[in-house]
Amino acid sequence: MKKVAIVWSSPNTDGLTAAAKNQIMNGLTEAGVQVEEIHLNRKKLEHCRACGNGWGTCRTKGSCVIKDDFAEIYRTLAEADGIVWISAVYWSDMTECFKTFFDRLRRCDAVFNHSLAEKRCVLAACAGGTGRGTLECLQQMERGLTHMGMRAYDRIPVVRYNQDYILPALYEAGKTYADRLENGFDMYY
Ligand SMILES: Cc1cc2nc3c(=O)[nH]c(=O)nc-3n(C[C@H](O)[C@H](O)[C@H](O)COP(=O)(O)O)c2cc1C
Repeated sequence: MKKVAIVWSSPNTDGLTAAAKNQIMNGLTEAGVQVEEIHLNRKKLEHCRACGNGWGTCRTKGSCVIKDDFAEIYRTLAEADGIVWISAVYWSDMTECFKTFFDRLRRCDAVFNHSLAEKRCVLAACAGGTGRGTLECLQQMERGLTHMGMRAYDRIPVVRYNQDYILPALYEAGKTYADRLENGFDMYY
């Protein structure tokens, strides 16, 4: 059985981001995937201290000196076959919470462990305002993934105006992603 971690961030458990997360989770579950949901806003996550002159044990040991939930989440991601990343759009970017986690993950994984490299991921950005900044948010997420050697299988913009048709599509995306994890990806890079 394939394992997929869904990492998501929004303070709202009944908003647009949560709805997107539920749809893709249901699609994955329907397809027989074991899903681990990681709601970053509920985790204890401090921001990077940029130890020393900028690099700390992230560079020399691939681990972070801060004792919080980071290490356990990192372990879950390393063990997962696939990862779905979903963030609410704040300031045309990921949420502060998402960025905090991503920043520390990138330091440990891109520079030392490389345990996430080659994983194929699905990204979704959920904008409940004007919808502006959704693509920039996805771009920022993909930039971080690329630093870690991960690849985006899809990038899905969710805005409040497209939710009637994009939420059902997210369910289908979950099923398709499950199929690709099981039977191989059809992407060229
Ligand atoms: C600090 C902040 C910044 C935001 N920036 C944007 C934005 O750039 N574009 C947008 O469409 N919505 C923006 N929004 C609206 C959020 O995307 C909206 O709250 C969205 O519904 C988040 O998902 P939720 O329903 O899970 O809360 C912002 C909200 C907050 C709190």
